[in-house]
Amino acid sequence: MVELADAFTLLHPAIAVVFVLPLIGLITNLAWQTRRRRIEIAVGGKSKIPPVGLEHQRLGRWLTGTVVGLSLIGLSHDPVTSILSDRLWNKQPFQVIFYVLLFLATITSLVFLYQAKTRIWRGIFATLTGMGLVVLGCHPAVFRRTDEWYVSHYYIGIAAAMLMIFSLAILPDIYKDRSNRWRLIHAVLNSIAVLLFIGQGLTGVRDLLETPLSWQTRYVEQLYQQNCKEKNCTIKATPASPQMAPATEMRSER
Ligand code: HEM
Ligand code: HEM
Repeated sequence: MVELADAFTLLHPAIAVVFVLPLIGLITNLAWQTRRRRIEIAVGGKSKIPPVGLEHQRLGRWLTGTVVGLSLIGLSHDPVTSILSDRLWNKQPFQVIFYVLLFLATITSLVFLYQAKTRIWRGIFATLTGMGLVVLGCHPAVFRRTDEWYVSHYYIGIAAAMLMIFSLAILPDIYKDRSNRWRLIHAVLNSIAVLLFIGQGLTGVRDLLETPLSWQTRYVEQLYQQNCKEKNCTIKATPASPQMAPATEMRSER
């Protein structure tokens, strides 16, 4: 039986695998068809490819919300585990309240970004949503792998989420701009986003492999404390702790 803490750990990867990654595949396929159809019509006046631009746009709007939501769940994992295991709401209630408010403010900014019509408001709410993600990511419990930023699930994930927020913010401009400048910017940036999502698939499965189940935590901690990678060591059974240590506590010892 999976414990509640382990189910929480699996929530983010499960949503990514079941929902977000297939959606990205679908959207990329529609994007390719949209571009080929537009170019064929521009060159020869007609195309056999069906018009799927609106479907790409409809699913694209969903994608921004799901990627930001997925990132929020990923970002909250270690801070929430640390708040619960250290009973921080007794010791530092204002920190906990501030964290919750920031979380809600980020979601609210995204909701307003979906509603915003004028360019200025779209810019403001896109900036606020992006800032919310960055500030939430600054929580000390979040494992950022800064020394290896180029293979960091955190940095690649935040970059991909920013590109999705930007896509939503410039959406009306893609249609308004007759010179296709925004369309080109969108296509180039989101081709990079596809590579970042592939990076998220690779770094995500690696990070999942490095995350022990809650009953394994107290044994795995000893592996790092005793540097078992480099030398022989003995792992002793310790009394079961009622609380689970956040994964970051172990990772930071590596
Ligand atoms: C994996 C992510 C994505 C990729 C690879 C992608 C790529 C593309 C490409 C290649 C085009 C066609 C450009 C052209 O005609 O030359 C396009 C069009 C478009 N994309 Fe995306 N896009 C992605 C996500 C999004 C998102 C998240 C949104 C909205 C929030 C969005 C909104 C649009 C819109 C409105 C168009 C114009 C469609 C039309 O012509 O009717 N896309 N995209
Ligand atoms: C659309 C793709 C994805 C995005 C945007 C994304 C984003 C994020 C972000 C921003 C974090 C928080 C930073 C961190 O702790 O590294 C995170 C954590 C994590 N993600 Fe992803 N992720 C994606 C896909 C995946 C996939 C496919 C897996 C695994 C199958 C995965 C597994 C994890 C794990 C294990 C964590 C660490 C949770 C923890 O212990 O703190 N992610 N993700």
